[in-house]
Amino acid sequence: MPNFQPGKVVTTTQLKTGEHAQIRYPRWQDLDRYLEFINRLSSENTFVRFSGQTVSIADEANYLANVFSSCELGDQVVLGAFVDDRLIANSGVERNLEDKERSRHVGKFGIAVDRDWRGRGAGQALAEAVMAEAGRQLEGLRLFHLTVFSVNQPAIALYRRLGFKEVGREPGTLKHREEYVDRLIMVRPV
Ligand SMILES: CC(C)(COP(=O)(O)OP(=O)(O)OC[C@H]1O[C@@H](n2cnc3c(N)ncnc32)[C@H](O)[C@@H]1OP(=O)(O)O)[C@@H](O)C(=O)NCCC(=O)NCCS
Repeated sequence: MPNFQPGKVVTTTQLKTGEHAQIRYPRWQDLDRYLEFINRLSSENTFVRFSGQTVSIADEANYLANVFSSCELGDQVVLGAFVDDRLIANSGVERNLEDKERSRHVGKFGIAVDRDWRGRGAGQALAEAVMAEAGRQLEGLRLFHLTVFSVNQPAIALYRRLGFKEVGREPGTLKHREEYVDRLIMVRPV
């Protein structure tokens, strides 16, 4: 069984600019921080699913409730990076249950760093922590899988650095600021 405790600290890391970031599971008291984080990201209209929509507190509470239950079931790991209790980055690995039992060994990876905190090493430290934790907590996991906008060079560079290899490309399936771009598929063994 997974050992999930809301708020549990997994590790701490020092950013390139000197601040210490705590990498830990979310807890209910983080709801306002998560809401601010997702709405800042959405308003940026960057390389994530949200493209300007405002997320309500009810929707974000649903997101966190789903995180807690699937972490408890051993189907997901979500970790945030916090500096002085502010959420600066969030990342997760979620078991692929779309094909019932066929793909439950596959962990879908995702990450976002707040715009004020990019380029300081938080993304790499958080990604490494979340994949290590997923390897420990998600029994039977064999493969990390992600998709990325083909024009998202910072993310692609980070993923290559983490050992991901490009294995596929879907032409024109993502819209980014009025342009239709390819979706790259990348994988890495656990
Ligand atoms: C992609 C993202 C997660 C990277 O996080 P980050 O904290 O800025 O990255 P780090 O500072 O840890 O950098 C780690 C490595 O990633 C690569 N990288 C990061 N930013 C880069 C940039 N602007 N250009 C090129 N490579 C970059 C580099 O290899 C870097 O290592 P280095 O600094 O030693 O060269 C972050 O830019 C982000 O959240 N962007 C918006 C949302 C997003 O694109 N999410 C991914 C969706 S698939």
